[in-house]
Amino acid sequence: MLPNVGWTGERSREYDAVTQPYVIDKMISAKAIAARIEDLAREIRAAFEGSDKLVVVGLLRGSFVFIADLVRELDMNVEVDFLEASSYGNAMESSREVRIIKDLSGEISGRDVLVVEDIVDTGHTLDHVARLLRSRHPKRLETIALLDKPTRREVDIKATWTGFEIPDEFVVGYGIDYAQRNRNLPYIGKVRFTS
Ligand code: IMP
Ligand code: MG
Repeated sequence: MLPNVGWTGERSREYDAVTQPYVIDKMISAKAIAARIEDLAREIRAAFEGSDKLVVVGLLRGSFVFIADLVRELDMNVEVDFLEASSYGNAMESSREVRIIKDLSGEISGRDVLVVEDIVDTGHTLDHVARLLRSRHPKRLETIALLDKPTRREVDIKATWTGFEIPDEFVVGYGIDYAQRNRNLPYIGKVRFTS
């Protein structure tokens, strides 16, 4: 248990909210992720052939590792921007209500845009964000998700590109958290409670 130091406020309480012990079973290796990203980058490069610049929008916080690796494989002019939406609290269930906590810093009107998401689960987050950004009239807007859990879908949406389809398991690592934990794991693993 971490000491509850005052200055970390909410985040500390969220981190400390995990009380049940768990282990992480490896699901997708760092090597497999890197290989998949190389292929995805090639497809994205080809799809945006002729574009003078691509605005790559990462959805915070889960996509920060994915976007860092993806843009370094994209051999073209990119601008990187971030947007933070929230649909999850401390729990493992989506609240279904999407709020924008941090908006983009730049304009996307008339630009080529790629929205980068960590996981498409119920679909509410990506649907909400894509609608919001399309209302700003980008020249073109496409989406990419590292992971997709198709069996969990509540909104009829699919990312233009998907890294891996996975079963209905709660996963962590490679930027993805469980109550703010395990984002720094280099691979994707599934959470398994031990009691
Ligand atoms: P959706 O709105 O239900 O599609 O949820 C998407 C968001 O929920 C993702 O961006 C993740 O932040 C979070 N999420 C969904 N599944 C998982 C998971 O297995 N582990 C951690 N976060 C998840
Ligand atoms: Mg997320």
